Amino acid sequence: MSGALLEVAEVQAGYGEALVLRGVSLSASAEELVAIIGPNGAGKSTLLKVIYGLLHPEAGVIRYADEDVTRVRPERLTRLGLNYVPQLANVFPSLSIAENLLVGTVSLPRAERRRAVNDMYEQFPPLAERRRQRAGTLSGGQRKLLAIARALVTRPKVLLLDEPSAGLSPQAVELVFEQLAAVKHRGIAIVMVEQNAHRALTLADRGYVLDMGRNAYEGTGQMLLRNPKVAELYLGRSTAASSSTSTSAPSGMSAPT
Ligand SMILES: Nc1ncnc2c1ncn2[C@@H]1O[C@H](COP(=O)(O)OP(=O)(O)OP(=O)(O)O)[C@@H](O)[C@H]1O
Ligand SMILES: [Mg+2]
Repeated sequence: MSGALLEVAEVQAGYGEALVLRGVSLSASAEELVAIIGPNGAGKSTLLKVIYGLLHPEAGVIRYADEDVTRVRPERLTRLGLNYVPQLANVFPSLSIAENLLVGTVSLPRAERRRAVNDMYEQFPPLAERRRQRAGTLSGGQRKLLAIARALVTRPKVLLLDEPSAGLSPQAVELVFEQLAAVKHRGIAIVMVEQNAHRALTLADRGYVLDMGRNAYEGTGQMLLRNPKVAELYLGRSTAASSSTSTSAPSGMSAPT
C-alpha cells in the first residue's frame, strides 16, 4: 500500500438497478486535503456515501488505515476514525451549539466527552462565543462550522465533507475554507466534494474530477487548475488557466508561469 489513510479502489455502486459509480478510485493521506469535483450527477455525493458505509458497493474495495472497511457501518467507521458531514441536515436546529457538539460525542467514552467539546471551542472560537445559541439561529457560515465541528468532535483521522461551501455567502465560504486548512494542518485527511471547483482546487493538495461515475482527471490542485481540458470542461471559461489574462487568479497564490 501507498501509506494512504484512505484508499478507494475500483468502486462500483448505485441505487437499485441504476449503476452510478462505474469503477472509481481515490486515496487520501494524513494532512492531505483532497477535492472531488465534477458535473451535477457525476456521483460525487454517492462516492462519499459509499465510503461512509451508507451505501454498499457492488464491487471494489475501501480501505481505511490498512483495514478493509468495505461493508462496515457508519457508526463503526466513526469509532474507527472516519467521519462524514452531509451537505444538508448536518446539525439539529432546535439544539444549542453545546448540545449539538455533545450529541456528536456519543461514540466517545463518557469521561472524554467534555474535553472533546472544549477542544472544538478552542479550534472554533465563533462557536465558543455562541455555545448557548440554537443552531437554527446561526448564520450559514457558523452553522457549517458547527456541522464540521460535530464531526471533528469524535477526533477522526479522515473527514468526508459534502459541499462545505454550498449556500454560503462569499465571506462565509472564506471562513469555512480557512478553517478547513487549519483542520488539515492538525494532521487530518480531508476528502471534500465541491461545486466551487476553482476555489476547492486552489485549496486542495490533490483533486479528482469525476464524470459519469468514472475518474476523469486527477492530480495536484495546481495541475488540474492549469490543465486546459479541465478548465474548459469543468471550471468554466472565466477560470481557464490557459488564459494569461485571467482575472480570476486567487490572491495569495503564485500565478502560473
Ligand atoms: N437516493 C437515490 N436514489 C436514486 N438515485 C439517486 C439517489 N441519489 C442520487 N441518485 C442519482 O445518482 C446520480 C449521482 O448522484 P450524486 O448525488 O452522487 O451526484 P453528485 O455528483 O453529487 O451531483 P451534484 O453535483 O448535483 O450534487 C444522479 O443521477 C442521481 O439522480
Ligand atoms: Mg452531490
